[in-house]
Amino acid sequence: MAKYQIVMVRHGESEWNKLNKFCGWHDAELSEQGVKEAHAAGKALKDASFKFDVAHTSVLTRAHKTLFAILEEIDQKDIPIYKTWRLNERHYGGLTGLNKAETALKHGEEQVKIWRRSFDVPPPPMDESNPHYKEIVEDPRYADGPSKSEFPMFESLKLTIERTLPYWNDVIVPQMKKGEKILIAAHGNSLRGIVKHLDGMSDEAIMGLNLPTGIPFVYELDVDFKPVVSMKFLGDEETVRKAMEAVAAQGKAK
Ligand code: 3PG
Repeated sequence: MAKYQIVMVRHGESEWNKLNKFCGWHDAELSEQGVKEAHAAGKALKDASFKFDVAHTSVLTRAHKTLFAILEEIDQKDIPIYKTWRLNERHYGGLTGLNKAETALKHGEEQVKIWRRSFDVPPPPMDESNPHYKEIVEDPRYADGPSKSEFPMFESLKLTIERTLPYWNDVIVPQMKKGEKILIAAHGNSLRGIVKHLDGMSDEAIMGLNLPTGIPFVYELDVDFKPVVSMKFLGDEETVRKAMEAVAAQGKAK
């Protein structure tokens, strides 16, 4: 018996998804396609009569603009929005800004799959030589966190989950318990972390999960927050399957 329902969505295609670059904490804009995906996500939620009391998102523009497009489509632009670095995409470290296919050519597709999808193998750290180091480390939006000691230079999925779960447990779960209907607009890997936690996925199984951009999915949870309905996408199965495969294929050497 489901007691809680929550909707999650990965941002629409970003400009760096389109360029097939490792993005992480770089603040990429949505591509034109990504804006369309975001509005389509909103229309799908409207058609399914979803309404929300509150939304949570990261501090990154691609997630914000996806959320705003959705809220515009469902005519709920006035609900409270919580922004937190804890829902940010995983920090891709020294890979940030590199092309995924070129990286696969250089290091092999298997190594890129490990960096993208493994549980506890982190990408190489970002250092000052990375062209995106200063824009990220000196970004004023991080003034309230993470602390200097917490500020990542790279993140494995495990490290990402370790900073996302406290937010899930301390902010989102209590709101759900109060009956709040919640929408989360975030990123492929911060959402993979939440999915892994909710479904109790093994470290091996999570390697196979690729989340498509801009297609909302629903969890229905029982009184103990165990899934009754798990990752139910608001899209036809074939579209979702193809979108997931396209995400996986980004790591192929071309
Ligand atoms: C990125 O940060 O590059 C993407 O948004 C997610 O990348 P991934 O699908 O390669 O993990």
